[in-house]
Amino acid sequence: MRTIRDIPRYENVPILVRCALNVPVENGRVMNDYRLRRALPTIQFLAERGARVVLISHIGEAGTETLEPVADALSKLTPRVSFFGETTGVRARDAVRNLMPGNILMLENLRRNRGEVMNDPSFAAELASLADVFVEDSFDTCHRQHASIVSLPKLLPSYAGLQLEEEVRELSEALVPKQPSLAVIGGAKFSTKEAVLTTLLERYTHVFVGGALANDFLKAAGHGVGKSLIDAEQDGASTIRKLTGNPKLVLPVDSLVVPASALGSADIRPYARVATIDQVRPDEVILDHGPGTSLLLARLAEQSKTILWNGPLGNYEKDFVDATNAFARSIADSHARSIIGGGDTIAAIEALGLLPKFSFVSTGGGAMLDFLVKGTLPGISVLG
Ligand code: 3PG
Repeated sequence: MRTIRDIPRYENVPILVRCALNVPVENGRVMNDYRLRRALPTIQFLAERGARVVLISHIGEAGTETLEPVADALSKLTPRVSFFGETTGVRARDAVRNLMPGNILMLENLRRNRGEVMNDPSFAAELASLADVFVEDSFDTCHRQHASIVSLPKLLPSYAGLQLEEEVRELSEALVPKQPSLAVIGGAKFSTKEAVLTTLLERYTHVFVGGALANDFLKAAGHGVGKSLIDAEQDGASTIRKLTGNPKLVLPVDSLVVPASALGSADIRPYARVATIDQVRPDEVILDHGPGTSLLLARLAEQSKTILWNGPLGNYEKDFVDATNAFARSIADSHARSIIGGGDTIAAIEALGLLPKFSFVSTGGGAMLDFLVKGTLPGISVLG
């Protein structure tokens, strides 16, 4: 993979950088600048060498949000950042033409144009007309078939940014873990996790399934899960039964449950009780795993040389974070090489101040899972 170190000339060259600037914004303010800090090495590498650095990114799913507050937040981390409120067209090209060497221009949200998610060739050509070189540094979107990810790199000399290079190196290494090893997959939606679970069961010593995903597995193993969130339909259910028979698979041994009738209450915590997996009542809902499971995971973490983790272990939206926090602490205490990813998981660990204790933090959620299955992604293989 060619990286930005291989670009033949930087001085005064307009370079388009696809960045991961999809950060949470509330009332016009960036609430968490973690992804911006991770984007800095590539941006600064190019700016310091006199390139005219043009940043493109999406923010939000719908294409309604603006990147303006993100440019503002980035300008607090590095000098000479400006924002232009359009993405393509004559005025955007003029803004790039007027950019001084070593300066950084952020263009407006790519998804404001439907051509981005539709992978429209003419939108990709518009983007390509802005610069002479393309840099891909948005690992988090490399699994998407979007114009800036899979079509634009075919139209310009293209290179990987430093962040993308690091993601590929670290996650490739995670596919050959030092044994004994532990993989932990949480969150929900079995359909999006099936392939990665199959891969991890081949490569890791233990694979723990947590979060709402565990409900499907507990049910398939014959345990009552009451009214808990279940994802797998008929097809998925038979696959889950097969996976459940794998001796490497580890499931929760206890849960934090609440009566379904309490879900509407403003504060549902007082209704929570610990139940072993055979004690969940028909009218109850599992919202987290229990202390017995946290202990089990702590023991596995202590024995492991590599730990891979993606997806929260409890219901985050309802503030059930005990299991996630306990496991984060277990990893911080262990001597294992630790690799984590997924927006909610990172936010939880950052809130605990434990992020520096992890060996590698992937900025991808879905992209990380897809990479682990395929060893590459559409936005990476297109770079040649
Ligand atoms: C993410 O936050 O996971 C990435 O930026 C991808 O965003 P998307 O799921 O809207 O494509």
